[in-house]
Amino acid sequence: MPLNFPPTLEWRESALRLLDQTRLPAEEAYLDVRTVADLCDAIKRLVVRGAPAIGCAAAYGVLLAAREARAQSGSCGTARPVNWPERFDALCEQLAASRPTAVNLRWAVERCRAAAHGLLKAGKHIDQIEAALEREARGIHDEDRAMCEAIGRHGADLLPSGRATVMTHCNAGALATGGSGTALAVFYAAQARGAKLKIFADETRPLLQGARLTAWELARAGIAVTVICDNMAASVMRAHKPDAVVVGADRIAANGDTANKIGTYGLAILARHHGVPFFVAAPSSTFDLSLADGAGIPIEERHRGEIAEPYGRMSVPETAAVFNPAFDVTPADLITAIVTEKGVLRPPYRESIAKLLGG
Ligand code: MRU
Repeated sequence: MPLNFPPTLEWRESALRLLDQTRLPAEEAYLDVRTVADLCDAIKRLVVRGAPAIGCAAAYGVLLAAREARAQSGSCGTARPVNWPERFDALCEQLAASRPTAVNLRWAVERCRAAAHGLLKAGKHIDQIEAALEREARGIHDEDRAMCEAIGRHGADLLPSGRATVMTHCNAGALATGGSGTALAVFYAAQARGAKLKIFADETRPLLQGARLTAWELARAGIAVTVICDNMAASVMRAHKPDAVVVGADRIAANGDTANKIGTYGLAILARHHGVPFFVAAPSSTFDLSLADGAGIPIEERHRGEIAEPYGRMSVPETAAVFNPAFDVTPADLITAIVTEKGVLRPPYRESIAKLLGG
C-alpha cells in the first residue's frame, strides 16, 4: 500500500509549514512559521519533533535566519547588509540550541551556516546566499527522504518475510523525518514486500508519541498496531515473544551508545532478558563521532508540567518534585544491530561505525 501521509514539513515561498504534531491524532492542523523565534518555539513545543525532522526544519530555519538578519539590518536592497554575519550567526545559534539531544539539529544548522559563510567569503550578493540556502535546505530534505527509503530496505532484511511481531517505542516514522521514517520505514518496507506485521507500540510517557503518533501513522498505513502502556512491555514481551524491537535514535556516539526517547534503555534491557533482537534505525546525520561514548550526550530535561499536569489535569501534588529527562542512553552492548542508509552495522560498533561512516 503506498504511504499517504500529509507532509511533516514543507517550504512554501516565505514560510515553513509544519504539521502540528501536538494536535494529532485528533486534528490535522498546520502551523506556518516565518521567524526563527517562532520556529524555536515550535521545536521546543514538539510541533515538529523527531531527530531527522528537526534537522530538516532547522535547515529551512537557517534560510529564515538569513532573511531575518537582512531585515534586522534595515538595508534590504544592499549586497552586504551591515552586521549581517553577526546577526545571522546569532539566529543560527538560537536555532541550534532549541533542543539539545538530537544532533541532527546542530548538524543541519552548521552545514547550512557553513555554506552561507563560504558564499559570503566569495563575495556573493545576499540574494545569492538566500537562494543557495533554500537549495541547501531542500537538498537536506531530499537526502533525508532517500536515507529513510534506504534504511527501510536494509532494515526489512532483518525481519521475517512472513508474519512478524515487532515492538517499537516513541515515534520514529514519517512524522519524525522528512521521509517515511527510520524504525517505521523498516515496517513500511517489510509490508511492501508482503510481510504481515503486528506492531506493539509503547504509548511513550509522558507526551505519548507512541500512542498519538505511531499508532496514527501505522493505522493509516494499514499495519496492525496495538498500543500498550510503557509498563506493560515486559509482560507483553514474555507473552508475545516478538521477533524484534526496532527503535529510532537522537544521537549515536562513536562506540554505538545510543540516545533515544526515555524508556528505550529499559526496553533494550527487557529485549536482552527475553532473547529478542534489539535494532536501532538511524541515518548517518544522527551519528556524533566527536563523542567517544554515550556519557557525553546532553540529555534534555523538560518542564515539570508535562508530568505533573498532563493535558491540563493536576496529577502530582505541588509539594512533590518531578524529574523529566526526555531521553536515555542505551549502551551499545544491548544493541543487536544499527541500521543506517549505508548498510547494517554490527558490533564491535567502534570499528563498524568508523569503517562505514568514516570516523
Ligand atoms: O522528543 P521527541 O518526540 O523529539 O523524541 C523523538 C525520539 O526519541 C525518536 O525516537 C527519535 O528522534 C528518532 S526519530 C526518527
